[in-house]
Amino acid sequence: MALNYDVVILGGGTGGYVTAIRATQLGLKTAIVEKFNLGGTCLHKGCIPTKALLKSASVYQQVKHAADYGVDASPPSFSIEQAMKRKDGVVQSLHQGVKHLINTNQIDVYQGYGRIMGPSIFSPMAGSISVEYEDERENDLLVPKNVIIATGSSPSVLPNIEIDHQQIVTSDDLVEMKQLPESMIIVGGGVIGIEWASFLRDVGVEVTILEAQDQILTSFDQDIVKELKRNLKKKGITILEKAVLDTSSIEKGEQVKVGYQQNGKIESLVADKLLMAVGRKPNTHKIGIENTDIGLDAKGFIQVNEHFQTKESHIYAIGDVIGGMQLAHVATYEGKKAVEHIAGISSSPLTEQEIPACIYGDPEIATIGYTEGEVEEQGFDYRTEKVSLQAIGKAHVNGHTKGFTKIIIDTKTDDILGVHMIGEHVTELIGQASIAKYFDGSALELSEVVYPHPSLSEIIGEAALAVEGRKLHG
Ligand code: NAI
Repeated sequence: MALNYDVVILGGGTGGYVTAIRATQLGLKTAIVEKFNLGGTCLHKGCIPTKALLKSASVYQQVKHAADYGVDASPPSFSIEQAMKRKDGVVQSLHQGVKHLINTNQIDVYQGYGRIMGPSIFSPMAGSISVEYEDERENDLLVPKNVIIATGSSPSVLPNIEIDHQQIVTSDDLVEMKQLPESMIIVGGGVIGIEWASFLRDVGVEVTILEAQDQILTSFDQDIVKELKRNLKKKGITILEKAVLDTSSIEKGEQVKVGYQQNGKIESLVADKLLMAVGRKPNTHKIGIENTDIGLDAKGFIQVNEHFQTKESHIYAIGDVIGGMQLAHVATYEGKKAVEHIAGISSSPLTEQEIPACIYGDPEIATIGYTEGEVEEQGFDYRTEKVSLQAIGKAHVNGHTKGFTKIIIDTKTDDILGVHMIGEHVTELIGQASIAKYFDGSALELSEVVYPHPSLSEIIGEAALAVEGRKLHG
């Protein structure tokens, strides 16, 4: 029997389930097809579990330095088992919350593998969804008016490398690790590489990052990268840049041995494990793309227009599977825009410059808008200022004065072009810059806002004052 819907969402990750809720708010009869668990990568393998583990590392470091605050604590030890238990608890409680939301919004969930079908007797257009189950149940056939593909992404693996999930692992394996290795080689100095390097080093693991490009975090502002590298090196993390892994050199034994080329020389490294963190690839395999006219770009991401429609205008795609900024908050934004378009609601789209991005290691990084390199390249007439956390009273109270906020403005219009922050809790502060960007606020307006004292948020006001030539502190 064919089951009719207004919208079927393929993939119940953060992008998919939030999109489903918005769809029901708009009166659309909605179903989700999910092969694993609602919440997807973000809730089960990515954002949430990694941040829970980073929190454990941060508490461990804080207790180590408790004496500085007048607290007498015996030297702490770190239990990965307990940290994982806590992480599982955080994930489970949020997973219950998501399931509750889906129930109360009366969204049907098909827990099986969804595949897009071509035109058939049920519909003259491609887009019916066949749901296959692992058990004996017969396939279901869903016939929606619209489909939203939100199947996400998976870790990319370099050619000739086989992930054995023991010695050669991806971030999916690390969120389930039972034991801490003594040493780890991380291939890729991107966001995933940096967050795991920070966690592992803070809990006592020897870490080496191998980055093929000129520097780690290539797309971030240079001043931020410089400050981050100083901090990571101080922790004892080895960072090898312009270091290209020789994928044919991997030898496995008690430990993993790898060769790499740096400055024309061949070198080698040995560690207990090797983490592949070289990007994420779109999940388009076996979802029936070949039964449709949907186009893929050169990297395999689904091509969409400004409303997130594929070449089949009733089939939309959102989130990691379309590439761009592969972030959970981008997926939810795109999903909301896609269903609103289905419901006939139009709104002006945000640009990438209005979307924040964060890295949750120690130190944290939070950024929005253009980097200084980008504004130079694009020929903006710009001004920039940096304010150190040293200038902020609350940072001294907290005992974390390392880091800064950098603001870049357009000299002609006073528009905020970019805000780049590094230091404790900056991921909680960047939302203020997002609001300013959303409302098209100027540096002058940001400097006129009243910030509570003492609070870390004062650094935003100080940066705006500084760039307006009215610096008060620092
Ligand atoms: P990425 O694209 O950020 O970084 C991959 C790095 O690997 C690049 O610097 C690249 O130059 C390097 N690389 C590639 N091939 C290499 C080779 N053969 N040898 C050495 N280095 C090599 O990808 P990543 O870190 O895997 O993250 C994937 C996505 O997930 C990103 O879009 C990221 O923004 C997102 N993410 C976001 C998080 C957050 O918002 N906090 C947390 C984790 C991931």
